[in-house]
Amino acid sequence: MNYDLFDALAYTSAQPEEIEPGVVLLRGAASHLVSDIHQQLGAILNISPFRHMFTPGGRRMAVATSSCGPYGWISDQYGYRYHSADPLTEQPWPAMPVSWEQFARESALYAGFPDFLPDSCLINRYQAETQLSLHQDKDEKDFKHPIVSVSLGLSAQFLLGGMRREDASRKIPLMHGDVLVWGNQSRLRFHGISRIQAGYHPVFGDCRINLTFRRAG
Ligand code: SIN
Ligand code: FE2
Repeated sequence: MNYDLFDALAYTSAQPEEIEPGVVLLRGAASHLVSDIHQQLGAILNISPFRHMFTPGGRRMAVATSSCGPYGWISDQYGYRYHSADPLTEQPWPAMPVSWEQFARESALYAGFPDFLPDSCLINRYQAETQLSLHQDKDEKDFKHPIVSVSLGLSAQFLLGGMRREDASRKIPLMHGDVLVWGNQSRLRFHGISRIQAGYHPVFGDCRINLTFRRAG
């Protein structure tokens, strides 16, 4: 555990805000890491670029994705799953930067989830008008581990639903630098992203980037 970074996290972010039991918002917690993330992201995308995967039903996903770490999340005609190689390059996914892994662990700890060791980081890119419909993150082996989600670039409205698809969802505005962690009784909540409004961010340009750290295996 790197206490300097943990102190920085505690210092730069507002108090953890428990939105629902097991859903914790750390406003601005990633702000101090933005230039590191931006730089490392470029290197990762040079190896495993963004692509639009297809759902098992054959629909092209509006959100473009890549991954880093031992496992990457993929979708194709055979289903949703994690895989240790990038299907585009047939090579292992790029390594997860140590600073990212440490940040994800510390965010989880700060949100009340000790012992989180991510082995996958899904990288999502949303351009204007892109949305992500309500879904559960349920392709991981063990739901005792939380999901740590970092928002960068354009703002979004995160839809936080309930345990059933038809449950009402509430909107949580997520801005550049915000970190949202969900686990425990909320681990399988439905969630999604409302249509992204066009805009321009000084670092990330015309898109929203979301990093979600998971323990897949
Ligand atoms: C996801 O549900 O995988 C991504 C959520 C987000 O973009 O904030
Ligand atoms: Fe998700």
